[in-house]
Amino acid sequence: SGELDLMDAANRIVHQVLDGIAERARPGVTTRELDRFAEGTIREAGGVPAFLHYKGYPATLCTSRNDVIVHGIPDDQPLLQGDILGVDCGVVYKGYYGDAARTYAVGQVSPQADRLIAVTRRALEVAVESVKPNRRLSDIGHAVQSFVESNGFSVVREFVGHGIGTSLHEEPQVPNFGEPGKGPRLKPGLVLAIEPMVNAGEPEFEAGADGWTARTRDGSLSAHFEYSVAVTE
Ligand code: MF3
Ligand code: CO
Repeated sequence: SGELDLMDAANRIVHQVLDGIAERARPGVTTRELDRFAEGTIREAGGVPAFLHYKGYPATLCTSRNDVIVHGIPDDQPLLQGDILGVDCGVVYKGYYGDAARTYAVGQVSPQADRLIAVTRRALEVAVESVKPNRRLSDIGHAVQSFVESNGFSVVREFVGHGIGTSLHEEPQVPNFGEPGKGPRLKPGLVLAIEPMVNAGEPEFEAGADGWTARTRDGSLSAHFEYSVAVTE
């Protein structure tokens, strides 16, 4: 449909940004520099940053470093070798939203950080593979939780994926945990932003004083990957 084509176009811009960040997330670079790159790339492609000014959010990207789970605000601290950096990007294109995130290794990282990134990326793939017509919504979260916990990591409960379309956040909410076989059936045409957030330690989060930054309570590392996915026949 025309609507899916426009959402695809929005997500192509998002992934153009995330591909560029793969080359730029190096020691010495600041997340503010990454944010400027993202905003320029989006506007040049004819899009609008979706997060900027959303509920007062001050930047184009969310940049979530090390123990930050999600919604870290870009700043002027240079990245360091060994950091992991979650980057979340949203774009509006001709009224339709795209939303995706990846977690990057900055230079050489610890074996544990490397494994956390790999397990979280794979958790998103497992989630996407669980999306089929007539499956139920909670099958997605169940797939994520069982995969993550069988790898010795934990899933954040307080933030969830979401429907997406002509708004950034639409019904339904998409948790990354739960029993299978519950909730509405997935129907062709539904578009979901699926976004597992995985902690190396305990699942609990702690809200930041800036009203955005969410950290792990135990200070352990956290990773985040997200795709916007259309249910098709
Ligand atoms: N992918 C995140 C979400 O769906 C990004 C939102 S950041 C915000 O919640 F700044 F826009 F809130
Ligand atoms: Co999202």
